[in-house]
Amino acid sequence: MVIPSILEHVGNTPLVSVNMDEFKHINLFVKVESYNPTGSVKDRAASYILDKLLKNGTINSETTIIESTSGNFGVALSAFCKHYNLSFIAVVDSHITTINEMLIRSNGAKIIKVTEPDKYGGYLLNRIKKVEELQSKINNSYWVNQYENPLNAKAYYQSLGKELCFQIEEMDYVFLGISSGGTITGVSKKIKENFPRAKVIAVDVEGSQIFKNSPMKRYIPGIGSSLKPKIIEDALIDDVVITDEVSTIQACYELLQKYNFFVGGSSGSVFAGIKKFFADMPKEKVNIVSVFPDRGERYFDTIYNKKWVERVISMKQESAVSALYS
Ligand SMILES: Cc1ncc(COP(=O)(O)O)c(C=O)c1O
Repeated sequence: MVIPSILEHVGNTPLVSVNMDEFKHINLFVKVESYNPTGSVKDRAASYILDKLLKNGTINSETTIIESTSGNFGVALSAFCKHYNLSFIAVVDSHITTINEMLIRSNGAKIIKVTEPDKYGGYLLNRIKKVEELQSKINNSYWVNQYENPLNAKAYYQSLGKELCFQIEEMDYVFLGISSGGTITGVSKKIKENFPRAKVIAVDVEGSQIFKNSPMKRYIPGIGSSLKPKIIEDALIDDVVITDEVSTIQACYELLQKYNFFVGGSSGSVFAGIKKFFADMPKEKVNIVSVFPDRGERYFDTIYNKKWVERVISMKQESAVSALYS
């Protein structure tokens, strides 16, 4: 079949089995989401949300789409807004990577960069303030608001969740990273309808506020959040595993060196999370499904940069030492 645009090839990503060296009793299957057109799982949300809003008349060709995002969602939205001839403003912060900024700009989006940290030292509150200011100034505008928009979860219910249920015959556990909560909310609902006994395990990172950990500076983008997303109120989560960022980095290198997966940080977190969860469990056969949300190239300046890794590890050790004496 020939398609008129690569953006019409969202989903139907490969499902790959991984024989984990240290856990021979685990059958692990991963959905490799980098095979989406702009390189991440977020294409599923961006394409679904815009299509639905256009079809139900909430937005039209004159609407300006606004979203606070420095990551994969910004890249995906910029591509799909261009595809649908919609104007897009991405409200980003100083932490945006050079590659994401380049991709969003080259898709014709406008970037507004927030450089002033908020009272918590992060940028989230000031980014939201900027979005609200833009909304009040621009007449026909729509704030996607991935943390609260139910369409974000519906996108994953309809696409990724459906695909997994179709591709997998037996499922004991599903491990999913979490940031806006769209993936886990949609996928968990679909999976529980088809595999009621499957356990859904959320993977979050130290310092993230989704499950009320103690706050801590986080370095790896794509996973975790400094606020609890509203949409996860509907997620069907059985358990949570919290990984640390050093294990995430180690897992990324292990996935590359042993299994040929060149993946982003959240995939490393999920892999580290599976190992942590099963470390002290009886060695019974289990079928696990997971999702690797993106590819490693976008982490060339971070996870796959030796100097950055050394700096992060030394900062983590310093803060661990100072916590002992505080
Ligand atoms: C690389 C990566 N992994 C995981 C996630 C988490 O997905 P969600 O926002 O659906 O919770 C994101 C979201 O931006 C992401 O970019």
